[in-house]
Amino acid sequence: MRIRRSLLDLDDLDADELAYVFGRTAAFEQNAPGRLLEGTACVNVFFEQSTRTFTSFNLAELRLGADVVNLSPKDLSLATKGETLEDTAMTLGAMGVGVLVVRHPEAGFPKRIALYFDGHVINAGDGAHAHPTQALLDLYTLIEEFGQLAERTVAIVGDVAHSRVAHSTIRGLRRMGANVVLVGPEGFLPAEYAIEGVTIERDFDAILPHADAIVLLRIQRERFAEMPLSNEEYVAAYRLDKRRLKNVRADAVVMHPGPYNRGMELDDSVLEFAGWRYLKQVHHGVAIRMAVLDLLVNARR
Ligand code: NCD
Repeated sequence: MRIRRSLLDLDDLDADELAYVFGRTAAFEQNAPGRLLEGTACVNVFFEQSTRTFTSFNLAELRLGADVVNLSPKDLSLATKGETLEDTAMTLGAMGVGVLVVRHPEAGFPKRIALYFDGHVINAGDGAHAHPTQALLDLYTLIEEFGQLAERTVAIVGDVAHSRVAHSTIRGLRRMGANVVLVGPEGFLPAEYAIEGVTIERDFDAILPHADAIVLLRIQRERFAEMPLSNEEYVAAYRLDKRRLKNVRADAVVMHPGPYNRGMELDDSVLEFAGWRYLKQVHHGVAIRMAVLDLLVNARR
């Protein structure tokens, strides 16, 4: 196994590393791991709000016995004292910080840091670009459900264009051989998204009886100026609700990276659907992040 310095997107992991992460996730959920990160300093810097990703990275680091520092962006000298990103990264490296977990509204920001940081950078979400640990926990949840994903149909619904989760999860699903169907209006899903292994469907109702899994997305309003359609039009065409659930297969699962907006992409009946897996996803998020930390810091060829 190669030593990977950073996890900026899913493609940074080869097939062996993916298998390692999933195997370790299962093991860590069975038995609490020891202090595998004893003596490793982890710094978390989130330039955007986060509940799930921030808390689960913190728990993962603490459970592995790491030294954990949470830096608030407004407290960085970068913000007000004219220090460059490059100098900030080198400074943290010189202190012996081993892992930097970064979320930022700008696509490519974690990569810029990784160029100057003498340690491992983990992308916790950069703009609309990528969110690899969310994709890993999505894949893990699906694999737990279905075993092999080849031949399974996974529908990803809504604001695909502005969703970093969708971008990373689509990559992962294609690698697993799943049949990916993207569902949404033109403004949230340009025709260019139709590539090998990925089809576009504008009519949500048409895919409902065929999907093994439905991944709902929040409309990422912070990333665009104008809604391409009204809230009412969106709800009428793309909300998963009581009426549409009747056409979803009884053995299908419904997922969401969170945070979900009740009334927009889903209604409350989805939260009671037997196949609703959101809390499972969140649960797996902690062990997935422990496994990623273990891979980057400890895995040796
Ligand atoms: C997402 C994110 O921040 O990219 N949430 C998450 O990390 N689980 C999705 C979103 O904000 O809608």
